[in-house]
Amino acid sequence: MKIKNLHKPVMLNEVISFIPKNKSINVVDATFGGGGYTRAILKNFKVSKILAIDRDPISNIFSKDIKSKYANFSLVNDRFSRLDKIVEQTKLSLKKFDVIIFDLGISSNQTDNSNRGFSFINDGPLDMRMGKSEKNAFDIINNYEEKNLAKIIYEYGEERFSRKIAKEIVKNRKIKFISNTTELSEIIKKCFPIKNKKLKNIHPATKTFQALRIYVNDELNELKQGLDKTINLLKKNGLILVVSFHSLEDRIVKDFFNHNSGKRWRSSRHYPELPDNLAAQLRIITKKPLVPLDSEILLNPRSRSAKLRVAQKI
Ligand SMILES: C[S@@+](CC[C@H](N)C(=O)[O-])C[C@H]1O[C@@H](n2cnc3c(N)ncnc32)[C@H](O)[C@@H]1O
Repeated sequence: MKIKNLHKPVMLNEVISFIPKNKSINVVDATFGGGGYTRAILKNFKVSKILAIDRDPISNIFSKDIKSKYANFSLVNDRFSRLDKIVEQTKLSLKKFDVIIFDLGISSNQTDNSNRGFSFINDGPLDMRMGKSEKNAFDIINNYEEKNLAKIIYEYGEERFSRKIAKEIVKNRKIKFISNTTELSEIIKKCFPIKNKKLKNIHPATKTFQALRIYVNDELNELKQGLDKTINLLKKNGLILVVSFHSLEDRIVKDFFNHNSGKRWRSSRHYPELPDNLAAQLRIITKKPLVPLDSEILLNPRSRSAKLRVAQKI
């Protein structure tokens, strides 16, 4: 099957700028997507092995050209929270890496396919699964208790109208199942006061859709577990690079870096206060996260919320 790769890699130049030149490197691309990062790394660096991971089987289609050209490339369809197991099970002569990259969230190949149900603009079924997942958005919207729905929308979408939206969803689903993305988006729109609808530049359904997607795919736990697995898999001086797209993700990355670089300070309840004598395992390279240039945002508006953080194994 031939499908056009619609994903434009975000902050590619910035990501590439951290990768060591002039030595042979082992790389994990934990979020292969359309393969934008992997392709650029294979083309510009001395790669001994690149292990790519993506939970979405659609990534196999975008890896075909790479597989046919490079014997040092392999792609595993799995979740990056299982990074340690994936490395163990993959036939590799070396089990430690110089670079591990995460480019979080979804790719345009997923959002722009209305059948996947990620988009509130194009109509599609309420699904939102990135790969295999026990839950889907239809289940949640049509079966979860109002209180639980409000909690999900608030926690994962930081949506201040979460209670009103949950109430409206429950009211509507009593009449008939809410089964597609535009139905849900219209219900959400009604919950916003007129002035909010006009003033804000973002669509009223943005945060609720983000919340559902994060919940369906257990994205925040995936990230915490994936990051935790990196430390034992990195060589000395090896790098972790993470591109995140919203504050919930960025906070987890920032906390993970701080926590493992010996800082006692924490910004959220996700990590406990550090004991005084914990040995630092990472050095933070980007004191402040890098953000895309205006020129990139202009060409690819999806990059506008991206943040890149980098840390190095000590
Ligand atoms: C933003 S895209 C990556 C794009 C890629 N860097 C490129 O240049 O084409 C994120 C990808 O990560 C995958 N993904 C998200 N969470 C994942 C997880 N927990 N485990 C494995 N893959 C995941 C998604 O399926 C999606 O294809």
